[in-house]
Amino acid sequence: MTKKPVIAIDGFSSTGKSSISKIIAKTLGLIHMDTGALYRGITYFALQNCIDDNNAVDIDRLIKNLPKINLEFQNVDAELQLFMNGNNINKEIRFPQVSDHVSQVAKVADVRNFLLKTQRDIAEKGGVIMDGRDIGTVVLPNADFKFFMTASQDERARRRFLELELAGEKTDIETVKQNLISRDKIDSEREVSPLKQADDAILIDNTDINKEETIALILSYIKKF
Ligand code: DC
Repeated sequence: MTKKPVIAIDGFSSTGKSSISKIIAKTLGLIHMDTGALYRGITYFALQNCIDDNNAVDIDRLIKNLPKINLEFQNVDAELQLFMNGNNINKEIRFPQVSDHVSQVAKVADVRNFLLKTQRDIAEKGGVIMDGRDIGTVVLPNADFKFFMTASQDERARRRFLELELAGEKTDIETVKQNLISRDKIDSEREVSPLKQADDAILIDNTDINKEETIALILSYIKKF
């Protein structure tokens, strides 16, 4: 293949989409974009600036404030990190409060439209692997390759728990699992761009295979073409 491909990787949370995409990007010389980070960035902004008296995100206020948000990825230590209005928020967007609210924010049509252009602009020149929930179905319906990743809820909760533990976050596996279940439900049932497998996406279930095996499996499909 001479032209660098555009690859869409969608799927459930904690299936390893982002870390796997990052390695595939390195292997194939592509740009990697973690689109979940963008939704997390907007949620982080909302938690700081658009909270109502009940400690919930005030969606109307958030929509009014969207034009004030400038999100961009910058290269830091050979990794794309997310900056909001000039500040590096790469660590903050992984905070549990952000994870707890992000699905509510991601289901808002104005938020999704706001982020659509950012995502498409990056893919325009080709040579990109983008991971998210609606990349193969909405953002890049003409992607050269589409994958949809899944794994059992227990296995995903176990992986997420280990990640949080490593990052020094205090939590327990049941809380992590409940957060996953609730996010899966909101993401799959929302009206706008719900999480679903594109008709032409290849299903990758990595419940019983590790990261290296998952990467090898995905690369085997890309090399077949
Ligand atoms: O991949 P992640 O867990 O960082 O994503 C955070 C949230 O953002 C997730 O609950 C769903 C939402 N999201 C989305 O709706 N569309 C995308 N393309 C990426 C993420």
